[in-house]
Amino acid sequence: MDLVIGGRKLKSRVFLAPMAGVSDLPFRKIAREFGDFVMYSEMVASYAVIRNIDRTRMMMELTDDEWTGIQIVGADPKIMAEAAKKSHELGAPFLDVNMGCPVKKIVKTEAGSALMKNERLAAEIIKTVVEAVPIPVTLKIRLGWSDDHRNAIQIARIAQDNGIQLLTVHGRTRSQLFTGKADWHAIRAIKESIQIPVIVNGDITSVETARMALKESRADGVMIGRGAMGNPWLLRQIHDDIDGIPYDESTVPSRIATIEKHIQEITTFYPSYKVIINGKKVLMMYSRGRPNAAQLRHRIMTLENEAQIKGFIYSNHLYARNAVTT
Ligand SMILES: Cc1cc2nc3c(=O)[nH]c(=O)nc-3n(C[C@H](O)[C@H](O)[C@H](O)COP(=O)(O)O)c2cc1C
Repeated sequence: MDLVIGGRKLKSRVFLAPMAGVSDLPFRKIAREFGDFVMYSEMVASYAVIRNIDRTRMMMELTDDEWTGIQIVGADPKIMAEAAKKSHELGAPFLDVNMGCPVKKIVKTEAGSALMKNERLAAEIIKTVVEAVPIPVTLKIRLGWSDDHRNAIQIARIAQDNGIQLLTVHGRTRSQLFTGKADWHAIRAIKESIQIPVIVNGDITSVETARMALKESRADGVMIGRGAMGNPWLLRQIHDDIDGIPYDESTVPSRIATIEKHIQEITTFYPSYKVIINGKKVLMMYSRGRPNAAQLRHRIMTLENEAQIKGFIYSNHLYARNAVTT
């Protein structure tokens, strides 16, 4: 069955997860070179959106792209609605509401996954946001707050009843944070209790795990987070596998071209004082899973300027070699 949001058929069943500090515009531009995945900005705090804070505006930057939405987080329905309107004005083709973030700073304000404990407020936020904008709104949740409070099915029904068009479920509770294993099977009961599309998320790091997650959850698509960091090839491999197309490495950008372009995007996007720190962060991401990762990380830490960062890509044969993805 086609996967549709807001009347538009999605070109891929692969979603790139919103990741604070990771899924910035440079990262999303690189991922876009690998396919028409659905992507999200880093989460942006609703109060920061309406106050027009520079750093937040940068996080909301989109390419002219119908498949990238903005994710907003907050606990005040009116401020969330204002943030939704602002996101729409800035050109977001769809929005996501964050009800999954487990981070203390967020949950202590009753936002993110804390909203799963407050179904009344969750419903009000969803309703207010959906009514505020003419674009589709999606929702991202966990299985619940804790093992004693697994109410994802109730939240899913609330979401559907109030106009959410697609639901992503990270198969962990808030209490788990990132420990244990994502429970893809638990997502099946959620999928079976609503009609809107459901996306399975958590611990999908390969074609095989994507297949298993889809099989166990019966979800309509997969969302990939950490597995895509420094590894946009994975998004394409999973996309091709779902579509039944053999993955052909010659049709995607090479490793060296990708790293080089990513660093170039960082240089263009960030003010100069942030280029070094973000550039090194990106090099670290691409060193994950390399045979000499520890040594590479050590060397990356010593880089001090843009020229050294660029030089590093070429001087480290193993780092940039167009090797099989991890
Ligand atoms: C560095 C990092 C930042 C994240 N930031 C967000 C965020 O801004 N919004 C959100 O909904 N989830 C966020 N997440 C959670 C991911 O979207 C995803 O649900 C989680 O990582 C599980 O998927 P994975 O196993 O594929 O990484 C973040 C995760 C990581 C690792």
